[in-house]
Amino acid sequence: MSEMAHQEPEAGGADPALCVEPMAVGTGMRGVMRVPGDKSISHRSIIFGSVAEGETVVRGLLEGEDVLRTMAAFRAMGVAIHQRDGGAYVIEGVGLDGLAEPDHVLDMGNSGTGMRLLTGLLASQSFFSVVTGDASLRTRPMGRVIQPLTRMGAVILGRDNNRLAPLAIRGRELLPLEHATGVASAQVKSALLLAGLNTPGVTRVTEPALSRDHTERMLTGFGARVQRDGLTVTLDGWPTLKGQTIRVPGDISSAAFFVVAGLLCPGSDLVIEGVGVNPTRTGLLELLDAMGAGLVLENNRLEGGEPVADLRVGFAELRGISVPPEVVPRAIDEFPIFFVAASLARGRTVVAGAGELRHKESDRLHAMAVGLRLLGARVEEADDGLIIEGRPDGLDGGVTVDSMTDHRVAMSLTVAALRCRKGVRILRTANIATSFPDFVQRMQGLGVDVAVSWG
Ligand code: S3P
Repeated sequence: MSEMAHQEPEAGGADPALCVEPMAVGTGMRGVMRVPGDKSISHRSIIFGSVAEGETVVRGLLEGEDVLRTMAAFRAMGVAIHQRDGGAYVIEGVGLDGLAEPDHVLDMGNSGTGMRLLTGLLASQSFFSVVTGDASLRTRPMGRVIQPLTRMGAVILGRDNNRLAPLAIRGRELLPLEHATGVASAQVKSALLLAGLNTPGVTRVTEPALSRDHTERMLTGFGARVQRDGLTVTLDGWPTLKGQTIRVPGDISSAAFFVVAGLLCPGSDLVIEGVGVNPTRTGLLELLDAMGAGLVLENNRLEGGEPVADLRVGFAELRGISVPPEVVPRAIDEFPIFFVAASLARGRTVVAGAGELRHKESDRLHAMAVGLRLLGARVEEADDGLIIEGRPDGLDGGVTVDSMTDHRVAMSLTVAALRCRKGVRILRTANIATSFPDFVQRMQGLGVDVAVSWG
């Protein structure tokens, strides 16, 4: 390692590369492991716990940078949050009208979820606030939350004619709204429901397809009246939210990298325990099964209103498929790693109707097409998807690729490198810490030759 090995990444500063060696033939991913807590549920635990009355205790919270930003934002608004003996986090809820005006800009870092959910909440508070984020977040579309919130009476100003952060929010009492979202987005749905919390009357959101439903499940657990009728969710405003005890399940979006690594490496026998398998999140598992993965879900159980299971993965010879468009929202964060599986499957995989991937932490269609092609995969980029001719005998590697600062692209390319003939260097990987701080150590623990390079 170079002499800079102990430096932390900082804005505009060093951003390490990962050097990944191919997995030796026959050495699969073997063992029993857990992955960090679910990112979506972790954000919501802090947000709902902060505006509930009384104490909320959260076990298994993801201590990734995105979630820590949300925690810092609520501390800046006067919420006491502390950790008990290095374990559970305790949030002293202040109630729906107990937040204080922050005396500085709220920096949400890389997190679209943090920014969009907070914008909804802050729009109905009685104070002024400004939210911003890193270079990636400042290019991501915020009009999709600002426009409907403005129809509720919110006063929000942003760059590019109110489409981009930083956003200045002049909080005030809003009017309830009935809104049909143009995209299936849990962030948009949740932003509107959060605005509806502190608004008298009924807020109703209809989506074109069902996106993840953690907001609905968790708000119900906190005591709000939330009803679902098909693709429509209805929330009664001004509920009394009561502090809860929450056990955050393992993040299926983090488990996904190990699931695909296990499937692609001959000799694998891997169990990932305690993974959240909410049906609005399991699209990847369905797609992989259609490719012949033979995944097994063991010990299915309910923990705090969320389905949880242990996933058992072994090597499988995958076949290409056409992805049904209705699965896309339920696998939205897993496409980077799905594209890796498709690149090593037998035959052709077609993904369409996935244009939303261009609005994530990077343009994930482009980032993955470029990265995988450099590794030797056969990938064609379309407007709203990718067409991939698999190479089941492996990829070439021996190159440097760029994660485009996107955590999921970086982790996906790491997995692809395991099935290359030569080593791969992946640039700009610091953001892995936003969702999976010990990803590299977990890979190393399974025998993967991966090293962090600051040079
Ligand atoms: C999230 C929703 C998804 C997902 C993101 C987390 C959430 O975004 O991509 O990583 O926690 O609500 P959209 O539902 O907006 O596509």
